[in-house]
Amino acid sequence: MKTKILKIDLNAPSNLIIKYAASIIQKGGLVAFPTETVYGLGANALNAKAVAKIFKVKRRPMDNPLIVHIAKFEELDKLAKIIPQKAKLLVRKFWPGPLTLVLFKKKNVPNEVTAGSQTIAIRMPANRFALELIRNAGVPIAAPSANLAGKPSSTTATHVMEDFNGKIDLIIDGGQTDIGVESTVLDLTENSPVILRPGAVTKEMLEKIIGKVRTLKKIKTGNIKSPGLKYKHYAPRAKMILVTGDMNEIIKKTKKLTIYFKKRNKKIGIMASDETKKSYGTKNTILSVGSRKNLKTVARNLFFVLREFDRLDVEVILAESFPETKIGCAIQNRLKRAASRIY
Ligand code: TXA
Ligand code: MG
Repeated sequence: MKTKILKIDLNAPSNLIIKYAASIIQKGGLVAFPTETVYGLGANALNAKAVAKIFKVKRRPMDNPLIVHIAKFEELDKLAKIIPQKAKLLVRKFWPGPLTLVLFKKKNVPNEVTAGSQTIAIRMPANRFALELIRNAGVPIAAPSANLAGKPSSTTATHVMEDFNGKIDLIIDGGQTDIGVESTVLDLTENSPVILRPGAVTKEMLEKIIGKVRTLKKIKTGNIKSPGLKYKHYAPRAKMILVTGDMNEIIKKTKKLTIYFKKRNKKIGIMASDETKKSYGTKNTILSVGSRKNLKTVARNLFFVLREFDRLDVEVILAESFPETKIGCAIQNRLKRAASRIY
């Protein structure tokens, strides 16, 4: 299969391209498209065969359900059996935007989408092209992040091409995505709301609207609440070590590790910040994800830089930690899960 790439202007996406992409979705094909978080790999959510293709090309474990993307508030009623008051309040405040709600599903949602679960994850993306695509297709779109299972999510069309060239029908290139980490996933099917995956809509932001929200602290294997949690994620090819502590500790530990791996002739990549990047000499591959004072930029660059290290054939990545405040929770969550060791 030949994969087409079409560039769009996000502020004024071409109608022709929207209609073309929508027709592929209607015919049961796969279209990768930008959202405000990361690129998604979309198919008609009501077409079980099309959805099965997503699992196949992504090599996604069959028990890991997909997020269904909608463009109109009314579509929520068609997919979810019950819409609790808390969901209504959150949707009013945060949609369109990077918040996914897990609710009980209606029967018409194919089991393939929810991986057999009685619950469904739904979000309305804040991206003009994505919304227009869903509206024109006339169906909800199931879309996981557009990366091979286990790899860092795609934040550019080039990343999508790296993983899916020749395997999907179309890639829409809308430039680098804004937020850079995937949406917050909030489970509203329990007695109290639980964050299954932190994202740009933070715990504090949610609590302002609906009161107490819990976070899943331990990532337990066998936890069936969010099946995605038990698999390795976001991992670059290189072995990644996450270095923790305050800034000075991080610099000290990273230097120590550099010496250790140098002795073993490993090609080292350091994922640093603007404040620390000058501390590690000039011989290593050092990439900054941005300033520690601007965690939004760090989130935006995170997956981009991880994929960059793979492109540079680095063997060991020493990644700095970031403070777990606001979007920093999402950053640390992804880093911890990408790392093979925490130091
Ligand atoms: O920002 C995003 O959410 C992006 C863009 C494309 O919208 N999508 C995304 O999808 O990150 P994916 O498939 O990479 O991650 C979806 C996460 C997985 O961890 C999955 O286990 C969880 O949501 N999930 C999906 N349906 C669920 C359900 N019914 N119950 C619990 N967790 C669910
Ligand atoms: Mg993903």
